[in-house]
Amino acid sequence: HDHILQDPHGREHRYLRISLVERCNLRCFYCMPAEGIPLTPKSDIMTYEEIFQIAKIFVDHGVTKIRLTGGEPLIRKDFSSVLEKLASLPVELSITTNAVIIDKFVDTLKLHRVNNINVSLDSLQREKFHKITLRDQFDTVYENILLLIQKGFNVKLNAVLMRGVNDDEILDFINLTKDLPVSVRFIEFMPFDGNKWKMDQMVSLKEVMDKVKIAFTEDEIERLQDAPNDTARNFRIRGYKGSFAVISSVTNPFCDSCNRLRLTANGYLKNCLFSTTESNLLSTLRKGGPIEPIIQRAVQSKFRIRGGMDTLEKLQEPKLHNQNRSMTTIGG
Ligand code: GTP
Ligand code: 5AD
Ligand code: SF4
Repeated sequence: HDHILQDPHGREHRYLRISLVERCNLRCFYCMPAEGIPLTPKSDIMTYEEIFQIAKIFVDHGVTKIRLTGGEPLIRKDFSSVLEKLASLPVELSITTNAVIIDKFVDTLKLHRVNNINVSLDSLQREKFHKITLRDQFDTVYENILLLIQKGFNVKLNAVLMRGVNDDEILDFINLTKDLPVSVRFIEFMPFDGNKWKMDQMVSLKEVMDKVKIAFTEDEIERLQDAPNDTARNFRIRGYKGSFAVISSVTNPFCDSCNRLRLTANGYLKNCLFSTTESNLLSTLRKGGPIEPIIQRAVQSKFRIRGGMDTLEKLQEPKLHNQNRSMTTIGG
């Protein structure tokens, strides 16, 4: 491989996250503003052929893993066509979804060897799930999670912790891993445009571990080996079938080992989750021009930490995160 995906900090980008749609069938308040967001006209959203063309260029230059995100990736009308095309590439495929309609896609996902499914689930209580997502879909989502496990998928559950909202459920989530072979990931709440983030609403890695240490002895809390370039610090309660983890993008960023790039549904490359500049790949692709030079420049200009918000002080400046997109059009 040449080095267009290597940045000046020595990081090699082998993981591409592709957002397939901006729309979502839930309305989580931490992910999008209550009034919604202006949607890109359909003609400016990548077609499935364009997704394939762009993805192939990344794979040719060394990407080995692609994760499909959204909005909610499964509500894309031609989701199966997207998947079929991408499955022809020599790459590991995975998806992050809210699982509301995933029961209809089990066979398609199996057929195209998508084995890693990350499901957003912020509460184990029906009423609270409804309050967070503005939709009464807890039962459907929970049944679908059980279905995925039964079908043998590798399932991770993502819970964004917010003080006064779901921080009382940490131990309930951990108890779920006693009999279910899933990984529950507690995620530090992060600031994006329009999500009204406040530092004191965020529940930190330290707080989570303090709670766990009250409920379990040091001997019972087993530190697991993290996967290379993992976003999460992984643990297991001894004897439990599943595991739990904390994703601490705010208090303990893992940017040194970052191997991720993001492609938005309207064909822009984001070199970081928090990047405030983006590079339009789709317009150049449509004009028939080469996109490799644009990719290379974008990778070269990647900040070392959190899109330049290298301190907690900077992270707290609304001026800075308002220049980023709303999370619902980044895809996590
Ligand atoms: P794996 O492929 O299983 O490692 O998934 P993942 O943890 O990378 O992705 P997922 O889509 O499940 O996201 C879980 C949480 O991690 C979300 O809150 C994401 O925003 C966050 N996350 C994912 N990738 C990055 C990243 O590159 N940087 C930061 N700061 N957070 C990330
Ligand atoms: N902070 C942290 N994680 C978030 N996600 C969405 N918005 C935020 C936020 N503000 C998570 C969702 C989803 C993943 C892709 O990103 O929980 O599982
Ligand atoms: Fe990578 Fe940016 Fe996430 Fe840090 S904040 S891990 S640099 S995407």
